[in-house]
Amino acid sequence: MATQEEIDFIRRLPKAELHVHIEGTLEPELMFKLAERNKIEIPYKSVEEVRAAYQFSNLQDFLDIYYAGAGILQKEQGFYDLAAEYFEHAAADGVVDSRIFFDPQTHTDRGISYDAVIQGLVRAAHDAAEKFDITFSYVHSFLRHLTEEAAFESLAMAEPYLDDKDFYRIVGVGLDSSEVGNPPKKFARVIAKAVEMDLEENSIHAAEEGPPKYVRQALKILKPKKADRKSKTLKPIIIDHGNRAMEDPALVASLREDGVVLTVCPLSNLKLRVVTDISKHPIRKMLDAGLKATINSDDPAYFGGYIVDNFVVLLDADEIDLRDCVTLARNSIEASNMGHNRKMHYLDVLQEMEDSLPLRPVAGAGGQAPRLQS
Ligand code: HPA
Ligand code: ZN
Repeated sequence: MATQEEIDFIRRLPKAELHVHIEGTLEPELMFKLAERNKIEIPYKSVEEVRAAYQFSNLQDFLDIYYAGAGILQKEQGFYDLAAEYFEHAAADGVVDSRIFFDPQTHTDRGISYDAVIQGLVRAAHDAAEKFDITFSYVHSFLRHLTEEAAFESLAMAEPYLDDKDFYRIVGVGLDSSEVGNPPKKFARVIAKAVEMDLEENSIHAAEEGPPKYVRQALKILKPKKADRKSKTLKPIIIDHGNRAMEDPALVASLREDGVVLTVCPLSNLKLRVVTDISKHPIRKMLDAGLKATINSDDPAYFGGYIVDNFVVLLDADEIDLRDCVTLARNSIEASNMGHNRKMHYLDVLQEMEDSLPLRPVAGAGGQAPRLQS
């Protein structure tokens, strides 16, 4: 088990969280508060009963409960409260930059205005930025079980908010929800349209449950064409999850060559049975293959932990050591869109923290990976 000192070390690592769904941060306590405020009946008697219901056998099982939970969100203030609570957790876990997905269609399809959603989320983010050392950006995600046409309609709703990039910080689009049977290519045109609208920091959930070929499709869609690129700095290509890419060695080689960032979510993978056991998690293979893996919480209220818990579950299983934790944090800071000076500062902090660690044993000499004692 990780010692308290090791957990504290991980918490102190400056980290960017690149993959978290704001609707997936709805804790049962807030669910009850909002249900009461909005006079909505929920089919549970207590917080404990809600938590006990969070047993999933696959992604779809989870999504059914997750969309039902999101139905509690009705007003701007609810979205504010949701995001404000997430930022409290993130800041306490040493997150210095959050790239947050939101699912507009989940709300606008129920008659909630896009404006109520984004104003609440962004107001909470600015308040958090003042309170904590944290920066943020939002990623407008399309529900891939819905049609391409519906995604185009949803994208049009974002348009009025794209001019004020400093305030709203909607920086890209994403693709989430039921993966198998809804391949990335179904949304190639709408993502191309988003790029035309200057939304360039896009990512696609791929190979969480779906086959490696979905990652190939996603790469084709996300790879910026030099001639089209508007921003001067080259942004990394981001694939959300990417677990099953490891089944295809040629794909792994191209992910490494292109420096593709994988936003890996260990507790999500466990809870949704993407892996049967944490010892079967692909993180070790990803790191050994030189891939730019990062650690993220995905839907922390549903999967039993925030970002630090996601590091700790891997450390506990000896899948990673503390030096790997520094590498994973470094990958996240490098991939984040925070300003240059801020990035350099956190990379320096990470270097200092890495230098403070005991050395790894020399290969072949035996001995345990370095641990910190409490
Ligand atoms: N996968 C796909 N869609 C999602 C997820 C996820 O893990 N979380 C929220 N929407
Ligand atoms: Zn996700």
